[in-house]
Amino acid sequence: MNLEQAVVLIKPDGLQRGLVGEIISRFEQKGLKLAAMKMTYLNDTLLDEWYAHHKDKPFFPQLKSFMQKSPVVAMLWEGIECVDAVRKLTGITKSRAAEAGSIRGDLGMSQQLNLIHASDSVAMADKERDLIFKPEEIFHYQKDIELFIYSEAERA
Ligand code: CMP
Repeated sequence: MNLEQAVVLIKPDGLQRGLVGEIISRFEQKGLKLAAMKMTYLNDTLLDEWYAHHKDKPFFPQLKSFMQKSPVVAMLWEGIECVDAVRKLTGITKSRAAEAGSIRGDLGMSQQLNLIHASDSVAMADKERDLIFKPEEIFHYQKDIELFIYSEAERA
């Protein structure tokens, strides 16, 4: 079973707009497994590391300030080829152009206030997981419904 994990953050706009439950439901209904979840503030040091690849972009200072406007909800989702599945559910960066049916496409209009962050590769997911979760905050448990989510061959 080629299991992957992906980090999702519900950004301050998602929290403020009361979309936490709706967003979590999208991932639950897809059949992904929740391995960790918490509310937290993102400090300067963490954001510098998190968005290191954006540090020279003109929007970087604004992005950091936006991400600190309120707590975020951080989650770790797990499944087969989970990173790609989560990105498809998330939709492209610019919410108003995102595909209908995706979280951003259905619920948002902004490029910066785009409701959630999703890991864009397995390597980034590993980095983000280690930045935001302590090992004891990550849960390993049996989810019997997976017998009806993946085929026997996929689970082997
Ligand atoms: P995300 O893809 O999660 O990670 C980088 C974030 O930077 C992105 O979501 C947006 O919130 C923000 N962002 C990306 N491009 C722009 C832009 N052109 N102007 C403002 N914010 C942006």
